[in-house]
Amino acid sequence: MITLQINGIKKQVDVDSETPLLWVLRDNLGITSVKYTCGIAECGICTVLIDGEAVRSCAIPVKDVGASEVTTVEGLTENHPVKVAWIEKQVPQCGYCQPGIMLQTVDFLSRQPDPTDEQIDDAMDDVICRCGSHPRLKNAIKMAAEISSKQGG
Ligand code: FES
Ligand code: FES
Repeated sequence: MITLQINGIKKQVDVDSETPLLWVLRDNLGITSVKYTCGIAECGICTVLIDGEAVRSCAIPVKDVGASEVTTVEGLTENHPVKVAWIEKQVPQCGYCQPGIMLQTVDFLSRQPDPTDEQIDDAMDDVICRCGSHPRLKNAIKMAAEISSKQGG
């Protein structure tokens, strides 16, 4: 039995310890906002936060998560700057990639609270949105940074 801390709640799962976190979240815990696409750590769509750091959940065995806090998009508060900006800027098209990209943004803004266009492009270069939402998400990231700064970080 493996114990995980997901969005502030302790969960126990009976799985092979080598199972990628992605499948434990989706298949064992029913958190289907975490999406499978490439399965080889290339697209960024399965991203979750582990202790606040963006991690590709398809590439980390569940045994390596340990007692760390895992955050999925459901773990963001209703007034989280990234959530507010995403809605305001109407970023998603099909929506499939968005939870992972939003979580990558949370990690990025925690390290780069006032990013330049170039820094945003660099940070989002390796997350793949097939619907071409990148221009909108760039605007949303700038807005999230502004909201965050007004909220005092
Ligand atoms: S599904 Fe994990 S990086 Fe693509
Ligand atoms: S919004 Fe459709 S893949 Fe990104």
